[in-house]
Amino acid sequence: MSGNSEGRIFTEEQEALVVKSWNSMKNNSGEWGLKFFLKIFEIAPSAKKLFSFLKESNVPLEQNPKLKVHAKTVFVMTCEAAVQLRKAGKVVVRESSLKKMGATHFKYGVVDEHFEVTKYALLETIKEAVPEIWSTEMKSAWGEAYDQLVAAINTEMKP
Ligand code: HEM
Repeated sequence: MSGNSEGRIFTEEQEALVVKSWNSMKNNSGEWGLKFFLKIFEIAPSAKKLFSFLKESNVPLEQNPKLKVHAKTVFVMTCEAAVQLRKAGKVVVRESSLKKMGATHFKYGVVDEHFEVTKYALLETIKEAVPEIWSTEMKSAWGEAYDQLVAAINTEMKP
């Protein structure tokens, strides 16, 4: 991961690019969330095994509501991270949520490579969702917000 770059400036323009693209995707967030995770599983099929609700279920993963919820969480939290980066210069997640997320991802065996594949899939999905406004600036704004959020989760990746 790119580590913590606290103090680096995240501009109003970058925040706006993230918020704007999220606003035009969010009405279809279930569909985009599903595409997002299918991309992850295409690149890293073994990542399916990490999710208890996929292992324990007979429902095809395309129809698993919990997968869509997790996908949407990643979108929403990255978007919120962008807003906070601009306002506060860092990602702020409630300490209890951060501890819980860190512990959960640790417990289920999520490692750096999973976060990297997920970043790639996230950016590809947004590119597909909003081709008319997609740009390298938009890509780097989402990428930066995601990296900072993951860095925050990583600090709590322990039992
Ligand atoms: C669970 C957020 C990335 C795999 C969760 C939960 C949240 C969350 C809120 C609910 C459980 C809890 O709070 O303790 C995020 C965010 C991510 C991210 C914000 C990135 C910014 C990933 C990645 C993977 C992953 C990259 C693996 C490919 C899991 C698994 C669970 C989980 C396996 C537990 C699901 C179960 O109950 O079986 N995540 N996640 N997450 N996440 Fe993530």
